[in-house]
Amino acid sequence: MTTSIFVSRPTSGDVVDLILEDHRLFEDLLRECRRTDRDRSASRQALAELLVAHAEAEETHVYPKLRRRDAITDHEAEHGEEEHADITEALLEFLEAKGTDTQKYDDALEKLSSVVAHHSVEEELTILNPARTEVSADVRAELGRQWALARNRLLDAGCASVAQVRALLEQAVVEGALAPAEAREQAEEITGAAKERAEEVLEEAKDG
Ligand SMILES: [Fe+2]
Ligand SMILES: [Fe+2]
Repeated sequence: MTTSIFVSRPTSGDVVDLILEDHRLFEDLLRECRRTDRDRSASRQALAELLVAHAEAEETHVYPKLRRRDAITDHEAEHGEEEHADITEALLEFLEAKGTDTQKYDDALEKLSSVVAHHSVEEELTILNPARTEVSADVRAELGRQWALARNRLLDAGCASVAQVRALLEQAVVEGALAPAEAREQAEEITGAAKERAEEVLEEAKDG
């Protein structure tokens, strides 16, 4: 059974409000993906399409315009794009999990949930807050219209098949928003070993 989940397509509004509304929708869809009494395939695909469309529209219409108006720095815009690439990487792993009732599905979902939550927090703190105070309501409305149009077009066209997400990931490496696969794997091994060691230290301290 595959149902399709309809994601609303607002066409106007303050860009900050529209983006926040999608951040809430990410959480709702991630939760749907966790439930066993739901069509997980449909939720997973709806989440994937929304994550890609949302971020692409931010990179095309929101980050560059806030940058030009000096509301955010180059570093903040670039960091946002790097986090989008981290989401793309975690999303590809989630989409590539075969079936929806496997440990791989659960692990990939847990990883994606934490990467998405991390980015929402940072974007709200470092990009949406200055957007609220540094640009006028008129500009925010204009950005809202442009962002929504781009987002909705991508949703209507379909933007998150496995092939499309894989191509986005390759593009992120070419653009320098993401390290090549070999370096990412190496970093993951280092992080894993450090985490294990840290856990040992904490366990020993609790026992002692
Ligand atoms: Fe966002
Ligand atoms: Fe974002």
